[in-house]
Formats: sequence, structure tokens, C-alpha cells
Amino acid sequence: MIRNILCIGAGYVGGPTMAIIAKHCPDVRVVVADINAERVAAWQSGVAPIYEPGLEDVLRMSLGRNLHFTADVEGAIPDAEMVFVSVNTPTKTFGQGAGRAADLQHWEKTARSILQHARGDTIVVEKSTLPVRTAEAMERIFKSRDGGARFQVLSNPEFLAEGTAIEDLEHPDRVLIGGAETPDGQAAIQELVDLYARWVPRDRILTTNVWSAELSKLAANAFLAQRVSSINAISALCEQTGADVQEVGRAIGTDHRIGPHFLRASVGFGGSCFEKDILNLVYLCECYGLEEVGRYWEAVVTMNQYQKRRFVQRMIRAMFNTLADKRITVFGFAFKADTGDTRQSPAIQVCRELLGERAFVCVTDPQALDGARRDLADAGPRVSFTPDPYEAARGAHAIALLTDWREYRDLDYQRIYARMERPAFFFDGRNLLDPEKLHGIGFNVYPIGLPERSLL
Ligand code: NAD
Ligand code: UGA
Repeated sequence: MIRNILCIGAGYVGGPTMAIIAKHCPDVRVVVADINAERVAAWQSGVAPIYEPGLEDVLRMSLGRNLHFTADVEGAIPDAEMVFVSVNTPTKTFGQGAGRAADLQHWEKTARSILQHARGDTIVVEKSTLPVRTAEAMERIFKSRDGGARFQVLSNPEFLAEGTAIEDLEHPDRVLIGGAETPDGQAAIQELVDLYARWVPRDRILTTNVWSAELSKLAANAFLAQRVSSINAISALCEQTGADVQEVGRAIGTDHRIGPHFLRASVGFGGSCFEKDILNLVYLCECYGLEEVGRYWEAVVTMNQYQKRRFVQRMIRAMFNTLADKRITVFGFAFKADTGDTRQSPAIQVCRELLGERAFVCVTDPQALDGARRDLADAGPRVSFTPDPYEAARGAHAIALLTDWREYRDLDYQRIYARMERPAFFFDGRNLLDPEKLHGIGFNVYPIGLPERSLL
């Protein structure tokens, strides 16, 4: 029975996942360690450094009791019987595989640190999303030195989505655990199964070999992103033909073999993982000489780039082929609703292209303005930021809605229209609002995958 858990990496995955484990396993001491002292201090204070609905309530249940945060990563290793590795694995920006391969430097440093400081037998759990066969590399690092401690490496990829992380962790569709097919490997798997079984029904805990677990994570994200790119590809055709992408999505999704989820056309998918994980999958395919397989998955990312570009092109065309010196208000900068995360948000590319057209851009968002300021730090004086959507819309020629925040549904659009320039344009990148209603107020409306409703 495991009594001491350490998680290295206190980010979007490490923080919430460990808070849930601590909640359901009050007899287990859970320590979360991170080199980012500022992040650690925020977690320690009970005010999470990330915005995630319901997180702080769960955090406060165990904080200081059986859940602890520390910046002393090395000092926390010796006592741990099980170490989750939840560090970031971004796309490599340098050297071989730049722009595609996963950057494994944080992960490898962590592995070496575990090797150096572990005292007894330790189960190491890959929580980060990693290329297939990373566990093998990790094992080789662990075997590189004869010491007292023995290691078992498990792959336990995380499937939570931001904005619904707590719900996803409380009621996961499945928990996936991959491990070696040896008696020691199976014993390690059982330890982790027993931990999750405290709150996850046993039939939702899947055990596989370690490679299947690693690959399933990349494949799951690729399949999800592929659905978004598929419906976005159809949205382009809808705009040309008069078909309505929402009606098409409903018609397709009622087929139980296809299912209704992830068929919302949008300005494009964002987030720290979809693009990174697909590019990583493509790179793996190339490394194994599977060029055609790589090209197939790469098309999902290509379509996403196209969708973001197409959104801006439609804006330019609608607004008489020039945006120069026009004021464009951006409603929402987070990559999706209910998060402050802006990593790979479509808003970044859209804003940059609008600024490239010499427009003035005013960004508003209920949670992501700090991220927006960071992402557009080099954009100069043509970009401004305000938390107040009414203020943001003052004197605007157009609004581009890029994040599906619920609060944008409830705004007084009559009031917003009254403070805008004429003709007023509304580009709904999430199909959040009723185009008929907006049109009735006086807007020229451009939803995704639907014909425009123009007054001109
Ligand atoms: P993140 O950037 O929010 O957090 C990673 C943390 O690791 C950072 O706080 C960083 O300071 C810390 N770190 C890096 N190197 C370290 C080291 N040597 N020692 C201690 N701490 C170190 O990243 P995230 O979004 O939590 O993602 C983590 C992993 O989980 C990634 O592989 C990602 O692909 C995967 N994942 C993310 C999500 C998500 O929704 N964000 C969901 C599923 C899986
Ligand atoms: C995604 C997966 O859903 C998680 O299972 C996975 O664990 C995670 O990636 C990860 O590995 O990081 P996340 O990126 O947080 O989670 O959010 P999603 O809900 O998947 O949305 C991703 C993007 O697709 C968002 O920009 C969202 O707006 C967009 N999207 C989603 C659409 O445009 N249309 C849809 O129908 C669904």
C-alpha cells in the first residue's frame, strides 16, 4: 500500500490531479514539487495559480493536511514511494526535430534527479504526454547506475480537459495504466490501480502494456483534434453553399457510430496539447519511416491553420478589403471557455494578423488578460486590453468573438451596437450567439459555417 506520493510539476495537470488524489486518499501523504517557486507559493496559499472551476474548493479540503506543495524538488524525492512526473513537454524549438518533436529536457532532468535522490524502491509514473517508448528511455536512465533503489516505470497519461478538469478527474471516462509485463511491473500497476480504485469504478481502469498507454494518449488527442478539423473543413463548404454547419453537425452526430461531441465548428482549436501532440505523432511516424501516416495526421494541423487564416480573410473581405486604422474588438483570448490559459489560443494568430493589417485591436477576456498581454507583448501601441466588454466595444468597427465564454451570451448587444461605428460587423468565431437576433439589432453577422447576414 502506497503511503507517500510525490508529483514533480505543479501545473495544469499536476496541481488538480494531486488535489483529487489527496481528497480521495486522506491516508496518503501527497507532495507536489515544482522548480517554479512563485507557482508553489500560490498553491500553498490556497489560491490556485490557474483558473479552473471548482479547483480551489478541492484544494482547500486537503491543503496542509495530506497535500503539500514545495519548491524543494530534490528534498522531496527520498521519502516518495511513487513519483508522478507531470512536467511540461512542449514542442522542441531548436536542433533536430525542431517544430515537431517533443522537448524532453525537463522530463530527462527529472528522471536523473529521481535516480540521484531516491532512497528505496520507487514507482515512477509518467503523467506528462510523452513520445512512445519514452518509458524505455527512462528505464535505461534508472538502470545506468547501480544503487540501492530499484525502479518500475508506469505510463498513466492524463485525459483531463481544462475548464472541466475537476469533473474529468472525479468521473473519468477511463484511467489508463501501462506497465511492464513482468511480475514487478504487474505489481506496480496494481499499486496504482488500488489508488485510483478509491473513487474510480474498477471497469474504468484500463491496464495495458506501457507502449499502448503512451501511444493511446497521442492517438486520443489526434482523434479529438481531427474531429474539430473535420467539422471546420465542412464549415468552409457550408459558407459557400448555404448549408448550415450546426445543422450538418447535428445530422452527423445523431448517428450513434459518430456521436455528437467535438463537432462544434470554430475559429480553430487551441490549447497547449492538440497541436504539440499531433506534431509529435507526425515526428514519430517520420522516425519510423511512415511518411504517409505522418502526412495524414499533419493535415489536421494544416486544416487548423487554414481555418484561423480563413477567419481573418473573411473579416477583411467583409470590411471592404481594408482593416487599416479600423478598431476591432476581440471578445475572448483564452483558447476555450472556463480557463485563463492562452497557450496556442487561436486568438494569438487572429490578433497578429489583424495587427498585420494595421488595425487597432482591443482585447477583452474575463480570465485571460494577463496571458493576452504576455502573448502580444511585442505588438506595440495598436493593441489594448480591458476586462470590460462594453468599454472594449466603444468606437469599434467590428467585434470578433474568439472564446465561447458564457458571459458573452448574456451581454446587452443593443447597448454594444449603440457604441460602435456603422456599419457594425460581428464575426462569431464560436457560433455562440443567435445571428438572427444580432442581425435584428443592426449588425452584419458572420458566423462560422453559415452564410453571412448582411445589411449592406
Ligand atoms: P505546465 O507547464 O502547466 O506545468 C508543468 C510544470 O512543470 C511547470 O510548473 C514547471 O515549472 C514544472 N517543471 C518543469 N521542469 C521541472 C523540473 N525539472 N522539476 C520540477 N518541476 C518542473 O504543464 P501542464 O499543462 O500541466 O502539462 C504537463 C504535461 O501534461 C504535458 O506533458 C502535457 O502534454 C500533459 N497534459 C496536459 C493537459 C492540460 O490540460 N494542460 C492535459 C493532459 C495532459
Ligand atoms: C484536450 C483533450 O480534450 C483532453 O482529453 C486532453 O487531456 C488535453 O487536450 C491534453 O492532452 O492537454 P483541452 O485542450 O484542455 O483538452 O480542451 P478541449 O476541450 O479538448 O478543447 C481543445 C480546443 O478545441 C479548444 O480550443 C476548443 O475550443 C476546441 N474545440 C473543441 C472546438 O473548436 N470544437 C469542438 O467541438 C471542441
